[in-house]
Amino acid sequence: MFITFEGPDGSGKSTQLRRIIRVFERLKIPLLTTREPGGTEIGDQVREILMNMKNRSMKARTEILLFNAARAQLVETVLRPALAAGTIVISDRFADSTLAYQGYGHQTPLEPLRQLLAFATGNLVPDLTLLFDLPAEVGLRRRLSNHDEWNRMDDYDLPFHERVRGGYLALAAEAPRRWVTIDASGDADQVTRTVVRVMIDRGVLPADAGRIPVSEIA
Ligand code: TYD
Repeated sequence: MFITFEGPDGSGKSTQLRRIIRVFERLKIPLLTTREPGGTEIGDQVREILMNMKNRSMKARTEILLFNAARAQLVETVLRPALAAGTIVISDRFADSTLAYQGYGHQTPLEPLRQLLAFATGNLVPDLTLLFDLPAEVGLRRRLSNHDEWNRMDDYDLPFHERVRGGYLALAAEAPRRWVTIDASGDADQVTRTVVRVMIDRGVLPADAGRIPVSEIA
């Protein structure tokens, strides 16, 4: 089972992932989590290039290839072996981030991007993708209030981030069996309850997971 968390910047998906990790720990269910860009030694070095504010002159094509270089390394060395061993894997972002940010955000044609993604991932597609949806402006305001996390991607203008959000909603509408859209604009505890319920409904977590109080995993 390969699950991905997607959403605009500041959607709180990384916080939710930390809480879900605690649910798996409490139920003693093996889980591997990873994040993009990064998740491998080589990928983390590529991440530094991508996120560094001094690389503001980076072109969209350069950005696309770097994200996918990090991704190819992650797929081959981490994701494929774990999935082959039957481990549940959750990735904080995956290929859909490229379609949303570089495709819709930078307005790069989607078809060549899809071909590149197929090459970089060897056609690995998630079984389930949770979209943490919220207005771009709300997400960016959250990021700004935590200024040390601000990176080169956050620094693109608001219309860029609005296109990213719209792109995600379009991708989710295209493949409604794989995507579940969660309203991430409200209370974090409520979002956690929704994530747990979705995972129970999709057979990822057993029904017991619904009885763990959010206060114990927050
Ligand atoms: P990160 O600090 O990990 O943000 P978040 O917590 O929102 O995931 O930064 C990752 C940034 O890179 C984020 O702005 C999304 C962007 N990104 C792309 O533009 N394309 C991609 O393929 C990936 C994986 C991420």
